[in-house]
Amino acid sequence: MKKIEIKTTVLEYNSVDNFSEEEKILIQKSKEALKNAYAPYSNFRVSASVLLENGEIICGTNQENAAYPSGLCAERVAIFYANSLFPTVPVKALAVSVFAKNDFPESPTPPCGACRQVLVETETRFKNPIKIILIGKNIIRVIESAKSLLPLHFDDKFLD
Ligand code: THU
Repeated sequence: MKKIEIKTTVLEYNSVDNFSEEEKILIQKSKEALKNAYAPYSNFRVSASVLLENGEIICGTNQENAAYPSGLCAERVAIFYANSLFPTVPVKALAVSVFAKNDFPESPTPPCGACRQVLVETETRFKNPIKIILIGKNIIRVIESAKSLLPLHFDDKFLD
């Protein structure tokens, strides 16, 4: 038997001081876009802002539906929107924030499994790691690439 251990590194910060100017704007825009979430069923508002290599910032929010599975997470709305507007421009970073129960949760909210898969596809597509920035009330977590959020991921290599 061979035991394989997979390590993921998460960086944790207490302020935005450690982020670049464009990342600070990305974080701010993510928080501002929370007002655009359509979450009447869960009241769990999620916003994801995408920073592209050309400096553009695209925001997306969760979009719910009375037929629950027809809705979509903020991360996928943002990524698909960004890739539709700029199909040749790599994604550099993604910042995610949440507003629920009249507050920003203490613990930063990580992307769901399906969103991780889409983020991995986007990294593969542009051959560029995406810096994932998860915003909590007082702490911000950073994961340096989507692939490290989804160990043993399925990607294009398995279709060869
Ligand atoms: N949600 C997101 O937008 N992103 C995630 O990664 C997790 C969940 C949304 C989906 C739904 O509208 C609400 O949060 C509650 O699950």
